[in-house]
Amino acid sequence: MITMDVINLRVPTKVTLFGEHAVVYGTPAIASTIPVYIGISGRIINDGVITINIKHGLQFQANNIVIDKGCIRVDIEPSHVKKILGYILTAINICEEELGVARGSYGYNITIDSPLPIGVGLGTSAAISVGIISLCLILNKYINDVENHRQEIARLAWNVEKTVQGNASPMDTYTIALGGLRYIVPSTLTAYSIDIGEELPVVIGYTHRKGTTADLVQKVKKIKELNERIFAEILNTIKNIVEEARRALINYDLETLGLLMNINHGILQSLGIVNTEHNLLIHTLRAAGALGAKTSGAGGGGAFIALAPSKSVQEKLILVAESLGAKVVSKSLCRDGVNIVH
Ligand code: MEV
Repeated sequence: MITMDVINLRVPTKVTLFGEHAVVYGTPAIASTIPVYIGISGRIINDGVITINIKHGLQFQANNIVIDKGCIRVDIEPSHVKKILGYILTAINICEEELGVARGSYGYNITIDSPLPIGVGLGTSAAISVGIISLCLILNKYINDVENHRQEIARLAWNVEKTVQGNASPMDTYTIALGGLRYIVPSTLTAYSIDIGEELPVVIGYTHRKGTTADLVQKVKKIKELNERIFAEILNTIKNIVEEARRALINYDLETLGLLMNINHGILQSLGIVNTEHNLLIHTLRAAGALGAKTSGAGGGGAFIALAPSKSVQEKLILVAESLGAKVVSKSLCRDGVNIVH
């Protein structure tokens, strides 16, 4: 059974506060959704094809457009195409396999509208995976709301990330499917909500990123293989940082949180995933009054998070980050996960 109605979804992106990379090896991490949303809408169509419309931040770069006897030939910047289409088509396949449906004579018309480019470390690929899985489950009438199916959506979206990236932790997909600030335990596939009541005065943004998440995860794996014992010690330290940070969040202890962010950043640097430009940004934010600042996510440039002691310092940090060429996307975390827009 299918529905021909148009379904509109609002999918938040996310920031990692503590524990990235180590989470790939099974240690817990802390991440949160942020109020920067990808719009995904879609409906079933009758002609057996999948049509994908991509807008704004995710748009591909199209080169050498040639119109030849009514046919349009175009070269599209391949890494973007590969990435976005890889996630979308894998999500549709995984969803249909799970449901045991053969598409046959019908197809999908899907539109994705993102304010962010893919692959900056803020969970755009996980958001697309969560969104397309949710969309496909709803269009095939397997579910009719997301509220009671978040765990199942998270599990299938994680399968999408693993299939496309090779090695992915459940952190991004579970955070985005469930929403809010989460303490993620990969071994049990649990993402506990951390309730902090008050808003954290954060500055979240990104700089240009080199390398894919898969490349950066591979880079860390090489360090592990070079010295298993030291790597095990590093994992253990990150695990302790995450535990302390969970306590500091619950107690709204901003000073401790800032210190833990700085230590976590130092460890990420020792793992070789922080580039010089990012390091300059992080250290300048600290000098400008941040209690803590760190690279967030896979690294290679990309996302960062800074913690301010007050709203006025938060505004100053935004100006500092922007003056160094960073794009600031959020001043807060958010509570929502993927949702249907009615
Ligand atoms: C991805 O946002 C962050 C990494 O920890 C990879 C993963 O968790 O799959 C680097």
